[in-house]
Amino acid sequence: MSGGCDVHLAATHLWRTIELPRVTDRRGRLTYVEGRRHVPFPIRRAYWIYDVPGGELRGGHAYRTLEELVIAVSGSFDVVLDDGSNREVVALNRSYYGLYVPAMTWRQLENFSTNGVCLILASLPYAEDDYIRDYDTFLGLRGIS
Ligand code: TYD
Repeated sequence: MSGGCDVHLAATHLWRTIELPRVTDRRGRLTYVEGRRHVPFPIRRAYWIYDVPGGELRGGHAYRTLEELVIAVSGSFDVVLDDGSNREVVALNRSYYGLYVPAMTWRQLENFSTNGVCLILASLPYAEDDYIRDYDTFLGLRGIS
């Protein structure tokens, strides 16, 4: 899946790309997102990842309950998604697409372009105890061992 609106059917919960509204006029383009309207959760936090050195990886964990929308607001990067049974790489390179990632999805961000900026809209404030940072623990919680 790359850039489209395909739905990952095999997972219990569905990760999917969401095309966001675009307002275009002679002054340029504007894209917006509203919680519970364009994404299925209230937006409680935004953060962004930038100035990622070539070859570096970000993420490499899952969340117990947090849902998120991942957007390449500048440049490009890949998101590796894994629900324990299925693995998929989604390339993000358009600022009007968001990747919806449900809870209990192992995800890693990689292959950042030089100007790559990753905006993440999250359903919860930061809480370290919502992170699952150990892959075997993740598989155990998903019922896969
Ligand atoms: P982390 O989520 O582990 O980054 P990544 O998934 O890209 O590897 O966060 C890195 C550090 O930043 C970690 O010490 C926690 C801190 N942090 C906050 O304090 N608030 C936040 O909202 C986020 C996302 C991270």
